[in-house]
Amino acid sequence: MLTVLKANLANKIASSLELPVEAIESGLETPKNKEFGQLAFPVFRYSKDKKMPPPKLAEQWAKVISELSVEEIDSVSSVSGFVNFQIKSSVLQNSVSDHLLARPNDFAEGVIGKGQKVIVDLSSPNVAKPMSIGHLRATVIGQAVVNLCRAQGFEVTALNHLGDWGTQFGKLAWAYQNWAAEYDFDKEPFESLFALYVRFHKEAEDNPELEKAGAETFKKLEDGDEEIVKLWKWFVEVSLEKYDEQFALLNVKHDKVLGESFYNDKLAPTVELLKQKGLLVESDGAMVVEMDDEKMPPCLITKSDGASLYATRDIASAMYRHEHLNGDRMLYVVGVEQTLHFRQVFEVLKKMGFSWVEESQHISFGMYRFKNMEKMSSRKGNVIRFADVIEKAISMVKEIIEQKNPELEDKDKVAKQVGVGAIVFNDLVNDRVKNVDFDWDQVLDFEGNSGPFVQYSNVRCLSLLRKAGVSEQDSVGFKAELTSFEERELMRLLLSFDQVLFDAYQHYKPHVLSSYLLDLCRQFSSFYSKQRILDAPEDEKASRLALARAVNMVLEKGLGILNIEAPAQM
Ligand code: ARG
Repeated sequence: MLTVLKANLANKIASSLELPVEAIESGLETPKNKEFGQLAFPVFRYSKDKKMPPPKLAEQWAKVISELSVEEIDSVSSVSGFVNFQIKSSVLQNSVSDHLLARPNDFAEGVIGKGQKVIVDLSSPNVAKPMSIGHLRATVIGQAVVNLCRAQGFEVTALNHLGDWGTQFGKLAWAYQNWAAEYDFDKEPFESLFALYVRFHKEAEDNPELEKAGAETFKKLEDGDEEIVKLWKWFVEVSLEKYDEQFALLNVKHDKVLGESFYNDKLAPTVELLKQKGLLVESDGAMVVEMDDEKMPPCLITKSDGASLYATRDIASAMYRHEHLNGDRMLYVVGVEQTLHFRQVFEVLKKMGFSWVEESQHISFGMYRFKNMEKMSSRKGNVIRFADVIEKAISMVKEIIEQKNPELEDKDKVAKQVGVGAIVFNDLVNDRVKNVDFDWDQVLDFEGNSGPFVQYSNVRCLSLLRKAGVSEQDSVGFKAELTSFEERELMRLLLSFDQVLFDAYQHYKPHVLSSYLLDLCRQFSSFYSKQRILDAPEDEKASRLALARAVNMVLEKGLGILNIEAPAQM
């Protein structure tokens, strides 16, 4: 959108400045002070060549460009080494019409991903354990990354690498066989499973015999013992049912669930291949791939009893993702604490000669920090649960609605949309690599940097259109030229949306989009409070409603990419 304008402008002024068109096109940026215009061109790098101090050069170039009377430009000015362009309102408006209003279904989308497939590993919880806040992040960030990739034209497979294998399932099966009668599995199957898990680990602290019994039961599971396999399958089923409820709450959908156990029959061939390639070294009976040169500890492939490890399964899984799911690019949305694990896995794949591993990336993220609550281990049973946080958000929003807007229709539905949106937005508003300081006041601040604020801004756009009698099907268009600073700035922001989506995609950083949406909402507020809209003269009113519609379109699409719903009223 703005990129088209930049290209246009560059074409028209390049020869007079004796610069290549591309240099201008790529040099054009957003002015530091938005009052100066919508585009700025810094001249510093040319100052030496042209033997002129930057302010002087900018002044000269501004004069040269003014004399060209380029039809898109209202005025050109120079400020301390920058040439600033005020673009004609009519040009900005036409751009908003052509690129946004006229293309409700695919505006701002990119095509660079066409014909390529991305596999995104997201959520990936562990059977019989409640999803933690870490899994909430892996789910929320993961789904946003999925959506950002899709918006660039990539085909995406959202994959749940379910933690459904390991000695803990022997322990759980043993606990079930011995203690199940003490729990109410009919009423609370998932909670009961987790209770067994916690109890086993607690009792095993004082009774090492339990560890042995658990290991033996796991051996039975590995050997295909009918009864234990049946139990294990049921553990997985009960857990998936629970997770699906929570994914549904977040509107998250995996295209595939391939648990760690899916790779069981692929592990021996993987280990064999590692051996053939001469990468395996024995170390105290275990098999490892050494990583001294990479200054990393060795990557453990099989334990001394022959059992495989988390890394082994990830190696087999990566090969499967490339060979059978046809992934051109593999992304893993997993917490920062697994950085070493992924570096090792990628390094092993590289040593195996798989060049596609260059396209793999660990999309890591920081932790939540709740006031007075440290990160806790699920073995002890006192995790902060994903579902609890969301439920609390929904009930708090419900209270706010009861106070502020008790007449609202569909209160429960809206409370859910806003409560969930608040949690998701709060997660996505900061750079994912940073820790999140979780503060309820901020999460639910309807006027702050929050999801509810963005949703509410959208509701304001919709209510403006409704009050003006414009329905969703009605087309809107610009009639009068809107020349105020607030309006031009609003248009500049609207026309930057495609670039924002691209930037957010490029670094897999949803916060680039979230911060942009906040800027857009703030600019909309300033427009809304300074300009007459419904009681403006007809043509101006039409143009302002067109702006409101464009803002509504961008907010809805932006929220959609963050996987947040946009209620029509709240
Ligand atoms: N189940 C793991 C955990 O909860 C996350 C799995 C991430 N994906 C992977 N391919 N290793 O920590």
